[in-house]
Amino acid sequence: MKETLEKLRAAALTAIADAPGAKRLEELRVKYLGKKGELTAILKQMGGLSAEERPVIGQAANSVRESIEQALEARGAVVEADALERRLRDEELDVTVPGTEACIGRRHPISIVLDEAKDIFVGMGFSIAEGPEVELSVYDFDRLNIPQSHTVREWSDTFYVAEDESVHLRCQTSPVQVRYMEAHSPPIRIISPGRVYRKDEIDATHSPMFHQIEGLAVDRGITMGDLKGTLNAVLQRLYGADTKTRFRPHHFPFTEPSCEVDVQCFVCSGAGCRTCKGEGWIELLGAGMVHPKVLSGCGIDPEEYSGFAFGLGLERMTMLRFGIDDMRLLFENDMRFLGQF
Ligand code: DAH
Repeated sequence: MKETLEKLRAAALTAIADAPGAKRLEELRVKYLGKKGELTAILKQMGGLSAEERPVIGQAANSVRESIEQALEARGAVVEADALERRLRDEELDVTVPGTEACIGRRHPISIVLDEAKDIFVGMGFSIAEGPEVELSVYDFDRLNIPQSHTVREWSDTFYVAEDESVHLRCQTSPVQVRYMEAHSPPIRIISPGRVYRKDEIDATHSPMFHQIEGLAVDRGITMGDLKGTLNAVLQRLYGADTKTRFRPHHFPFTEPSCEVDVQCFVCSGAGCRTCKGEGWIELLGAGMVHPKVLSGCGIDPEEYSGFAFGLGLERMTMLRFGIDDMRLLFENDMRFLGQF
């Protein structure tokens, strides 16, 4: 029996020394010391021993129990320390490692100039209106007094959506004027920026999609002087106090009289250069006094009210603002170019 006890001690100590973790140690404790464990099983046989043998074996059994308990405790401390060390290592936070750089991007040059323009107009009391890009031809053409024969109505110029020509991708922001006047009575002061579409081949100054900023002011006693004053103030804010403008007579079906507005070339100050193609002036927008037919079509009495309107080309404004000489750069999404603004 003593031999059996010594074998048990040896087996238990080896197993405990090899135990990888606390879970295995608990299994071993149950296996050797538990109520149904191996040591208990041996002790249960002690009843059959002689009176001389019993204390000897009893002592030996106690010694085995003690050494197993000690081994369990010692190994327990080791695996606990290991586990703690591993956790500390795994959860280590090195505060000196550089952080992940946050990539927040930047505004597109068109957005920069649009935001500047919005700020200027809002500061002058204009509010911002929106209209659909897929527009009814009634709003984009008929209600703007654009005659049936106008070339803009041709399939070669306009992206029609409906076979019967009743719906198309708007070719200007001007229909927002009509939508706004239908829904609001004077006094009106709005701008409406947005995308417009025309069947143009892509080149340095054309794109089938571009942006305009429409403007509209309607009230009693509005004159061409208000139009000039407003546009001059805006352009001087955008391009500098010494910006010179030129108002040339022109024709638009929805304004009477109509004009085009040029700014003096900022590169050559009017002498003529590559940027202004020798003209000395750069065309920036169309404008005029809202046609009485357009006003009355929206339920506004042209005898009582008058208004001015204008349509700015946002790409042109952006190119002028930053000295960009090719419109394609604005749409190609080359980060080397866009990263400069
Ligand atoms: N819609 C015109 C265009 O795309 C620009 C324009 C001219 C708008 C005169 C206006 C205006 O509001 O009064 O060419």
